[in-house]
Amino acid sequence: MMLLASWQTALQPAGPQASHIEFLWWLFFWVSAAVYVVVLAFLIAALLRAGPGDPGTPESQRAGRAVVAATALTVVTLFGLVAASAFKGHQISSLQSPDGLEIQLIGHQWWWEVTYRHPAPSQQVTTANEIHIPVGRPVQFQLISADVIHSFWVPNLHGKIDLMPGKVTTIWLRADKPGTYRGQCAEFCGWQHAHMALFVVAQPEHEFTQWYSQQVKPAPDPGSDQQKRGREVFLTGPCVMCHTIRGTDAGARYGPDLTHVAGRMTIAAGTVPFSRAHLAGWITNSQSVKPGNNMPPVPLKPEDLQSLLAYLEMLK
Ligand code: CUA
Repeated sequence: MMLLASWQTALQPAGPQASHIEFLWWLFFWVSAAVYVVVLAFLIAALLRAGPGDPGTPESQRAGRAVVAATALTVVTLFGLVAASAFKGHQISSLQSPDGLEIQLIGHQWWWEVTYRHPAPSQQVTTANEIHIPVGRPVQFQLISADVIHSFWVPNLHGKIDLMPGKVTTIWLRADKPGTYRGQCAEFCGWQHAHMALFVVAQPEHEFTQWYSQQVKPAPDPGSDQQKRGREVFLTGPCVMCHTIRGTDAGARYGPDLTHVAGRMTIAAGTVPFSRAHLAGWITNSQSVKPGNNMPPVPLKPEDLQSLLAYLEMLK
């Protein structure tokens, strides 16, 4: 569907937190595998030597000591894993930085509202379902939910963290490799939980700055008559009740901010790629694409729909 730098997997880490988690994963994997092999080897040996037991013989005393030693080894192994886990947990949560980027992430059924915090409100950017971050710079996510519990999970970059109504949680992460990393809501949150994806686009600092300065701008003015008509359709139809397009009179905050919607890769939180055809289908009847979502069908005359599409497609 689209080009990703890597699979959505915790085993291809692109940042320090994910690397710590990957280390733990392999540590647990290999220790568990070794324990499994050793246990099976002893089991087979015991079966081969099985015979009537005779307590009190030197052989059965040796067997008793072996059981005590194995128990002690098990306890030591488990404590070792607990210690490794605690140590890595501490390392994972130790990333912080005064010049970190601050991003507020609000979970909605079923999409992600992304706001880049900035001391100057005019420099603040709101977008949806796609998070651009600069490579090498720590990012602080402040997470909250507008409705039910969701979970932010981009396995190539970090572990899971819940978004809860009424409680802000925070995590830090850093991407060290440029790329597009897919994430997924990891807490069942209703009908379209499976269609609540997001993308983190990690890019070199100058590309990120370029992207950001584009996002700060209000929506471009329509050029052609068709685009002008499209904006009119947007501003006089039901769209304006829920969506914002900065630079126009549309300022509702119920649905995703559409100021630069045409710059995003997907529609409806990773459900379908951004294209004219998908956009047309989505506007006409989004319920056939993502049943249960909050956007009602928008019946439009064919020429109005074409104008609206022409307008939305220029919102880069
Ligand atoms: Cu949001 Cu699952």
